[in-house]
Amino acid sequence: MSKTINIQDVLKRLGLKEINEGVSTGTVWYDTEGKINKSYSPVDGSLIASVKTATMDDYEKVMQTAQKAFEEWRMTPAPVRAEVVRQIGNALRDAKEDLGALVTYEMGKIYVEGLGEVQEMIDICDFAVGQARTMNGFNLQSERPMHRLMEQYQPLGIVGIISSFNFPVAVWMWNTALAITAGDVVVWKPSSKTPLTAIASHKIIEKVLKENNVPEGVFNLIIGRSSVMGDNFLDDKRVRLMSMTGSTAVGKRVGERVGKRLGKTILELGGNNAVIVTPKANLNMALMSTVFGTVGTAGQRCTSTRRIILHEDIYDEFKEKMVNAYKKIKEKIGNPLDPNTLVGPLHDIHAVNQFKYAIEQVQKEGGKMVYGGEILKGKGFETGTYVVPAIAEAENHFEIVQEETFAPIVYLIKYTGDVENAIAINNDVPQGLSSAIFTQDMQEAEKFYSAMGSDCGIANVNAGTSGAEIGGAFGGEKDTGGGRESGSDAWKAYMRRQTTTVNFSSDLPLAQGIKFDLD
Ligand code: UN1
Repeated sequence: MSKTINIQDVLKRLGLKEINEGVSTGTVWYDTEGKINKSYSPVDGSLIASVKTATMDDYEKVMQTAQKAFEEWRMTPAPVRAEVVRQIGNALRDAKEDLGALVTYEMGKIYVEGLGEVQEMIDICDFAVGQARTMNGFNLQSERPMHRLMEQYQPLGIVGIISSFNFPVAVWMWNTALAITAGDVVVWKPSSKTPLTAIASHKIIEKVLKENNVPEGVFNLIIGRSSVMGDNFLDDKRVRLMSMTGSTAVGKRVGERVGKRLGKTILELGGNNAVIVTPKANLNMALMSTVFGTVGTAGQRCTSTRRIILHEDIYDEFKEKMVNAYKKIKEKIGNPLDPNTLVGPLHDIHAVNQFKYAIEQVQKEGGKMVYGGEILKGKGFETGTYVVPAIAEAENHFEIVQEETFAPIVYLIKYTGDVENAIAINNDVPQGLSSAIFTQDMQEAEKFYSAMGSDCGIANVNAGTSGAEIGGAFGGEKDTGGGRESGSDAWKAYMRRQTTTVNFSSDLPLAQGIKFDLD
C-alpha cells in the first residue's frame, strides 16, 4: 500500500462514523450523553472523527454488566475461552491492513509499524490459545500422612486496562488475550489521544463475540473523561487488577491509589534505555540496530534507545556513522502512510515541545548538539509535528539525560576502560526497562546480563532495545514500575493463587506436629 490508502474508506470498513459511541460491553454500544471528544490526525491535522464519552451512569452500568459476566465466564473452561481469543486473532488477521492504517493515521507511526502493532496483537492471541492448556499449578509434598497439598490459579475478576497512545491497540491485546483466557473480564480505558483505534478494535471483535455467545460484559470499552475514568476507576474495588501503561509520573499516582485499596497493579512505565557499544562490537550491526531504536516510532516507544554508551576507542567513528545514517533518514521524514517514509510525525505539539525542551536543556547543562533538532516546515509539514531526529553529546548525570523524553533525541555518552564502567552508566538512571550491548566478546556479553550486569527488565546482546517479541515477559524495574505482561508466565498476574490441603485420611493431624486434643 502507499499514499493511495484512502482513509475515508478505511474508516468506513472499520465501521467508524462521524460521531461514534465510546462505550461498549461487547456487542452492545451505549448511546451515551457524555461530552464529545474529537480525534485529530498528527499526520495532516484533520479531524478524523468524534466520540461520545461515558457518563457516570454508563460507567456504573458497564461495571455491573462486567461483574455479572464474570460469574459465567470464570466457569467457562479455559480452552473454550481461548477459542474466542483464537477467533479474535483471525478477525485481526482479516482487518490487519485497515487497523494498521488507522493506527498510523491516528497515532502517527509509519505504516509498517502500524501493521507490526496489529501483528503483535495477533501473536499474543496465538500465544494465549496455547497457554490456555498450560496455566498450571503445583502438587506439593505434604508433611502429613494421606494429605494432598496443591496450588492452583483461579480467575481474578475485573481487570482494568489503561493504555497509552504510542501502542494504542497492542497494549490492550497483550493484557486482554491473557486476562480473558485466564477467566477474567476486562474494562479498557484507552488513551484519550487515540480513541478511534480502540473503537475500531472493539468493532473487529464484535462479530466473534456474537457468534460465540460470549456473555455481554466480558470485553468492555469505556472512553471517558477523567471525571469518570480517573480516580473513580482507580478507586473502584471491583477492579481487582489495574494494568497501566504510561509515564512514570502517572504510574506513581495509579500505583498509590490502587495500592491504597490493596488492589493489584501491573505498571509499565517510562524507560531510559541504553545501548552499550564496546570496541569488540560489529559496528555496522550496532549502527543499524541502534538507529531503529532511536528513530523508530519517532522515538515514542517505551523501549526507544535514549542513550548510546560508546567506548572512547570507537566513539568518533560511531558518531560519524550515526550522523551519516541520520542524514539519510532526514530525506525520509514525512507522511507515515507513504511506504518510503521512515520517520513520521510526533503525536502532538506537546511532544514537540518536550523535544525542543530537551535540546535546549542538554546544551544548558554543557552538552553539544551533533545533529538534527529542527522542526520541519512547509508542504506536508503544516501540523508542526514533524521533527528531524536529534543526536547530542552529553554526560549521564545531566538532569535531562536522567529523564525520559518521549521524542527522537539520543545522547552519546563516552566510557573508558572495561565494560563494567559502561554497565555502571547503563544502570545509573532511575528507570530500568530495556538495555542492550553490542559486542562479539563472550565475557563482555556474559557480564552484561549477569547479576552484576544491566538492572533492566530487558537486557539484549547484539539486538537493540526496542522491538521485543511477545513470547518473553515484558516490563522493567525501578521507575519502570516492576510489572510484567505479555509472554512467559506473565499470565500469573491475571489470576489469584490458591493453596489447598485435602485430607483423605480419617485422622486430623495438624501441621508442625501440634497436638490439640479436647480430652
Ligand atoms: C511500549 O512502547 O509501550 O519492544 C512497548 C517494543 C514493543 C513494545 C513497546 N514490542 O518496542
